[in-house]
Amino acid sequence: MNHQNVLSITGDFVQPPVNPRLVLLSSRELDKMRRVGRLAANLLNHLESMVQPGMSTQALDDEAARWLRAHGAISATLGYAPPGHPPFTGSICTSVNDVVCHGIPNPNQILKDGDIVNIDVTPRLDGYHGDTSKTFLVGNVSAIARKLVEATQESMMRGIAEIKPGARIGDIGAAIQDYAEAQGFSVVRDMVGHGIGRQMHTELQVPHYGKRGSGLKLRPGMVFTVEPMLNEGTHTLKFLADRWTVVTKDKKLSAQFEHTVAVTEEGVEILTLP
Ligand code: MF3
Ligand code: CO
Ligand code: CO
Repeated sequence: MNHQNVLSITGDFVQPPVNPRLVLLSSRELDKMRRVGRLAANLLNHLESMVQPGMSTQALDDEAARWLRAHGAISATLGYAPPGHPPFTGSICTSVNDVVCHGIPNPNQILKDGDIVNIDVTPRLDGYHGDTSKTFLVGNVSAIARKLVEATQESMMRGIAEIKPGARIGDIGAAIQDYAEAQGFSVVRDMVGHGIGRQMHTELQVPHYGKRGSGLKLRPGMVFTVEPMLNEGTHTLKFLADRWTVVTKDKKLSAQFEHTVAVTEEGVEILTLP
């Protein structure tokens, strides 16, 4: 996800100036996005089969790197260094428990019974990117952790269900926020979904909260991510000293799911399905 770069004093999302014509993909490009999207989903399924107590997050990363190479793809996160960040050292992000996103795989981090772990994969294939993540349960988790994970996935699907030509970006966030808060969870404000295509992150921003009817009008050919992060406690975040790892300020749990989607004439197509 992107850091939201425009925040108003009220905390409401302010749509940055994006020319919608600049973010439309051709049908040829959409075909490439379908291919890399399916690849991303298949990688995530593959990694899911490894998630169990005793597994290190580095072992997941190593397998992701090997799998991508075997499939003729590369990771867009490895070496990624936007302004103000050192190069990211993972081929995937692994975010455990109170880590909201951008957790860095580490040989000393061993998954244990009761953890929740988000795995976020962003492969590049033939010049285009897919971006998808799920939060997995490690062994037996608490009732609240399970509820948080289920609510996060459902909130993402409700956000995606809003997408069709003529709908607004704000409709997505409103659906996510309504559901999340009704379940007793908070929605992260400071990290947003993003346009995607030849670059992993393009300027289009997709907040996971907001007002119906606000924001950019959706048009066929727009491609972006929907990737809500829901917190057990407050939505406030903190960066660790590594300048990547984002954690909840209150150290309570956070979960995330992500799909890459395309706006079509008919409505919406989820590109990151197997
Ligand atoms: N996949 C992340 C996203 O959803 C991007 C991660 S950038 C990284 O946008 F460098 F932290 F890996
Ligand atoms: Co993303
Ligand atoms: Co992602």
